Amino acid sequence: MGSRKPVIAIDGPAGAGKTTVARRLAERLGYTLVETGTMYRAVAFGLVRDRVPQRDGPELRKYLEPLDVSLAGGRVYLNGEDVTGAIRTHEIAEATSRATTLAAVREKVTPLQRRAAAGGGVVLEGRDTGTVVCPDAQVKFYLTASLGTRAGRRHAELAARGVRASLDRVREDVRARDVQDETRELAPLKRAPDAIELDTSDLTVDEVVERMLTAIATRCSTRS
Ligand code: C5P
Repeated sequence: MGSRKPVIAIDGPAGAGKTTVARRLAERLGYTLVETGTMYRAVAFGLVRDRVPQRDGPELRKYLEPLDVSLAGGRVYLNGEDVTGAIRTHEIAEATSRATTLAAVREKVTPLQRRAAAGGGVVLEGRDTGTVVCPDAQVKFYLTASLGTRAGRRHAELAARGVRASLDRVREDVRARDVQDETRELAPLKRAPDAIELDTSDLTVDEVVERMLTAIATRCSTRS
């Protein structure tokens, strides 16, 4: 390994705790956090707002071509416009789920994610960061948790935002998202063979982050 700082890839299903631990890990390492799902959400927001048909074809490709998505200081920008607040709605979550199955969308966004990781010193968080975006990432993690745990976390998250939904309904949504993520043809959610799997069901955020820091120190020292 040269002097470039490592790229750390974190993948796993919805509710496994990726976002929280990725944020904390990036802080502890002093690395840049790249939430790849946020970039997809920004593109989906553009498609919805500008009424672009969400199916592969010339119209979609023409729309995507000049589009730029970037992350800076915890904000996300679509062609320079701050869309951070606008992408966190149920409508955009649904649109993102659909948009991420389209080849044109993934072919547009994956290179932007690689660009964001190019300098190293980056924590990438998503579904395909260790398998497709940066298969050569120095350290890869695959976070999991039981369906019940993940549903419980989502439920609490929604409640904290004032959104009321039954636990059963949330569990069904999480299960449906798993099926969508794992069975889509392009870049499905799967553990990279060299990823370290961590089941976060019975661990606190601090415990997960400490285990990751230990694994990073070990992997990076044996490879340098
Ligand atoms: O992680 P987040 O909920 O923001 O992801 C938004 C959507 O983007 C989800 O539907 C997820 O499956 C998808 N996604 C993806 N590839 C990634 C990251 C997220 O398809 N690398």
